[in-house]
Amino acid sequence: MSRVHNFCAGPAALPEAVLAKAQEEMLEWQGQGASVMELSHRSKAFIDVMEQAEARLRRLLGVSDDYAVLFQQGGASQQFAAVPLNLSLEADNADYLVTGQWSKKAFAEGARFVNAHCVADGSADNFMSLPPSDDWSISGGRYFHYCPNETIGGLEFSTIPEVGSPLVADMSSTLLSRPIDVTQFGVIYAGAQKNIGPAGLALVLVRKELLGRARPSCPAMLNWDTAAANGSMYNTPPTFAVYLTGLVFEWLESMGGLEVMGAINARKAARLYGQIDNSSFYSNPVDESARSWMNVPFTLADAALDTVFLDEAEQAGLTNLKGHRSVGGMRASIYNAVPEAAVEALCSFMSEFEQRYG
Ligand SMILES: Cc1ncc(COP(=O)(O)O)c(C=O)c1O
Repeated sequence: MSRVHNFCAGPAALPEAVLAKAQEEMLEWQGQGASVMELSHRSKAFIDVMEQAEARLRRLLGVSDDYAVLFQQGGASQQFAAVPLNLSLEADNADYLVTGQWSKKAFAEGARFVNAHCVADGSADNFMSLPPSDDWSISGGRYFHYCPNETIGGLEFSTIPEVGSPLVADMSSTLLSRPIDVTQFGVIYAGAQKNIGPAGLALVLVRKELLGRARPSCPAMLNWDTAAANGSMYNTPPTFAVYLTGLVFEWLESMGGLEVMGAINARKAARLYGQIDNSSFYSNPVDESARSWMNVPFTLADAALDTVFLDEAEQAGLTNLKGHRSVGGMRASIYNAVPEAAVEALCSFMSEFEQRYG
């Protein structure tokens, strides 16, 4: 077996220990004579899997009973529509902060269902810095939507915005990378395929007082009240994805929780940005105060070398470093399951590549 150092932005690397446990349990799960995929979602055994996953997530993030934890299908993009459908009526206003490709998409989708008001838009600066909060024009609508970590641009908030309306955050690429104060948010949602588990699942945390506001036309599959009332089992949930997600949460607990992961992630990011900043060959264009811990885009002094860099990196077992098609260059995503040794290997490769081509 030969596993590479995988820097994919998503679906991303999963902890090897999780994959090994899933492999070990694949044919027969916990004495059931069947794999976990082959159990009824209504069976006690599977309901336990779901409940344990939820309990672990609550412990990891410190989520109180004031919040519902929902396992939803359809990824984060489906929540772009679910947010307005659950929190507003068509004639209402809602605020959107646009800081990159993902919050821009959420804004465009939201605008199909609500009077979406753009609070500020960082596109003039090519999304390289966060628009200062003094310049935001907040309408005070039903909610305020933003994306704390822009996966494509590599732009991250280091603080939580203070706004008057319920804060709704697309945390797809930052949730579980460090501790957060969940009480500051009305809704947190995230596609699973970065720090949570396999694709096919989205996590939604909703402050319970925000439930019960869905408009009558909200489809049942997008309705958070329906999901909460049915223990996220209004229909057949993606059982294997939920099981694997539970194993990821178990792994995070065994690592020491989010304080420990946060410290490791801070070290990984510092190491990689240090490698970039201490050279005139590599550069990262993002404002230093808003650099992402999870997604690190970088360019080479000579873009003609991009393909050579990617090919040689791949030969060295460093994969999925190609930047997003809309941005170009390189991007290393260094989520929880990417160990410090992988970042070290990447930095050594970068240094050696620079010596040969710089
Ligand atoms: C911040 C962010 N939001 C939303 C999405 C879309 O997620 P999904 O593909 O699960 O719909 C992504 C995917 O990479 C993302 O990074």
